[in-house]
Amino acid sequence: MEQDDPLSESGIVTLETVVREPGANAPVIKVENATKAFLTPDQGAMVALQDINLDIPYGEFVTVVGPSGCGKSTLLKLIAGLTPLSGGRILYQGAEILGLNTKVGYVPQESKLFPWLNLEENVAFGLDKKRYPRQQREQQARHFIKLAGLTGFEKYYPAQLSGGMGKRASIVRALAYEPPVILMDEPFGPLDAQTRMILQDELLKIWEQKRQTIVFVTHDLVEAVALADRIVVMTHRPGRIKDVLRVGMKRPRDIFEIHRQDGFDRAYGRLWNIFRHELNIKRA
Ligand SMILES: Nc1ncnc2c1ncn2[C@@H]1O[C@H](COP(=O)(O)OP(=O)(O)OP(=O)(O)O)[C@@H](O)[C@H]1O
Ligand SMILES: [Mg+2]
Repeated sequence: MEQDDPLSESGIVTLETVVREPGANAPVIKVENATKAFLTPDQGAMVALQDINLDIPYGEFVTVVGPSGCGKSTLLKLIAGLTPLSGGRILYQGAEILGLNTKVGYVPQESKLFPWLNLEENVAFGLDKKRYPRQQREQQARHFIKLAGLTGFEKYYPAQLSGGMGKRASIVRALAYEPPVILMDEPFGPLDAQTRMILQDELLKIWEQKRQTIVFVTHDLVEAVALADRIVVMTHRPGRIKDVLRVGMKRPRDIFEIHRQDGFDRAYGRLWNIFRHELNIKRA
């Protein structure tokens, strides 16, 4: 990496810097022959992911779908540097990830708030690292709390929020910090349909403004199409990449009318066709 590359100076950068990165065509994340095996209590080594190759360019919105247990969460954990690879390597901005990758924001599948901090402090948590002045930090936290529909609950502690409220808060906590890359593991899975659409819409609006790179795992094929530039379809365990589909629908997209948008049916049809084969579902 170049000496004067502003991205190399610290883990925290402004999103504008990311977008203007000179090598914008180079992938921000490069997964090369990544393999991950786990030791299991009964079967010895179990290969969860096998020979994954994937380039993710700056600013792309990638969704990842695949059968339960195919290694989607494991892939995100590898990119976040939370667990070591068994083979291959993963590069972040050209540098191999060898430990915790603090440059990415990560919303785990079972994401939790810090129980000892109230809602506002939770959402502002990452902003401390950005050395924002206090007023700006509070403003930013309040803005994201509003996005999550949680205004009025700023002083509540996680135990005093409902499950869905906590989930929404943990999502906006990652967004508020504005990392250049966000890894989201089925973030909207447990939410009710309305909240889910509202947050999908907000996420797309934020992304359209900031053009963060987003890797978003979902089991919802409509969501996968609605949000993505590209969809990565994985096979049953050991997870491999079965196909990568480009979604040609124009942006900005209207999440609330996504079924009527030009290109939706075609993209969904293509995805379902691939997925159906993976699930071994025959045509009626
Ligand atoms: N820490 C671990 N130790 C042992 N095995 C693990 C561990 N983490 C994951 N696995 C195994 O790796 C495989 C992939 O798990 P992973 O959680 O990545 O799947 P997934 O695609 O995210 O599934 P889901 O859609 O249900 O969330 C599973 O068989 C799981 O049992
Ligand atoms: Mg998972």
